[in-house]
Amino acid sequence: MATSPDGELPRVSRGRPQVFISPMRELESPQRQTPDSLMLTGFWYRALPADRVHRNQLQKAMLLEIPLVLGRDRQRQPFALRDACPHRGMPLHCGQFDGEQVECGYHGWRFDAHTGQCQLIPSLTADQTLKVDRIYAGSYACEEHDQFLWVYVPESPAAGAGFTKQVEPSTAAPQIQKFSEKYQLAYLTADMPVSVDHGIIGLMDPAHGPFVHQAWWWRKRASIHEKQKNFEPIPNGFRMSAHTPSSNSAPYKLLRLYADAESITTTIDFTLPNLRTETIRAGKYWFSSLTTVTPITRNHCRIDVVAAWNLFRWMPFGPELLKFVFAKFVEQDRRTMELQSQGLKHNPHLMLIDDADRPAKWYFELKAAYLEAKRSGSAMKHPIPEPVTLKWRS
Ligand code: FES
Ligand SMILES: [Fe+2]
Repeated sequence: MATSPDGELPRVSRGRPQVFISPMRELESPQRQTPDSLMLTGFWYRALPADRVHRNQLQKAMLLEIPLVLGRDRQRQPFALRDACPHRGMPLHCGQFDGEQVECGYHGWRFDAHTGQCQLIPSLTADQTLKVDRIYAGSYACEEHDQFLWVYVPESPAAGAGFTKQVEPSTAAPQIQKFSEKYQLAYLTADMPVSVDHGIIGLMDPAHGPFVHQAWWWRKRASIHEKQKNFEPIPNGFRMSAHTPSSNSAPYKLLRLYADAESITTTIDFTLPNLRTETIRAGKYWFSSLTTVTPITRNHCRIDVVAAWNLFRWMPFGPELLKFVFAKFVEQDRRTMELQSQGLKHNPHLMLIDDADRPAKWYFELKAAYLEAKRSGSAMKHPIPEPVTLKWRS
């Protein structure tokens, strides 16, 4: 599991539900949004970078407060089991793995790594008839895409102990869109000591840029100006419609010189539970990224950015440069959220303002609509009825 440098989970308060007050209602009773840090099940989540999980080894991870053990079999195929033996709860990552079966370190029960089905209980005598193959260690669908291992967290979680088989995913694991055969791929990851909700609304927040992401090669605080962007509803989310990117940042100026200036467009989508995709296209050149904010525990999330591109392939330091720029951004966000978590410890009242926090409001509304649809069994009622233009200064 991802931990802070000192090897411990960041100590942040177990949050009571946060209350968001919208400014128009300040004098009325506080408006409760979706309870803070509610984690959505029934989706694929990034569990670990693929290069951290090696063949014939066991690696622990945590997703939505579910302890997992991940590994790769002899053919390098990844798998994910609940990290608790169904016999007496021993963490399975402490056991042995021969590339096919995981053996618990306590009484030696053996489980098929992919299905979780029990294969052997060493203590049974020849005349004892316990049906070993009816016992399962909880197992999860696990796939490898774009340098990450993804795990499907089902709506009714696989019981830790018992007789439940793996739940089949209802959707395919998300993948980065690519627009040519040849491309480069890189990832970045950072732990944030805040709930997934704060991670996500921080990610989609348009107003913090000039204050948090100042750099001579990006933008200065003095470059703040009014912006206007069009948004439209998409299934489970919303899209910042294709637009020509911000003119006041150096990389875009460079890109504009490099490709045909008029043809640069950016599209940014957010979809539940935690996916932000950004696509930049400039003629035959493209850049595409899929950023996720993954709930690890109630008060701890992880941001993973994976980018693919065919831009700058002529530049000797292209990928390094891009990674440097992204690492800088992510570190600035991480540092900000680390400081924010200190303020959140004492459960302050918070507010969401128009229009700069409208995407954050939509996020909470989408989440509430998704949960309501699940509860009532009816179709999800999209909270954004039609395209809308938002204005802010940044
Ligand atoms: S606890 Fe795992 S075999 Fe007993
Ligand atoms: Fe940011």
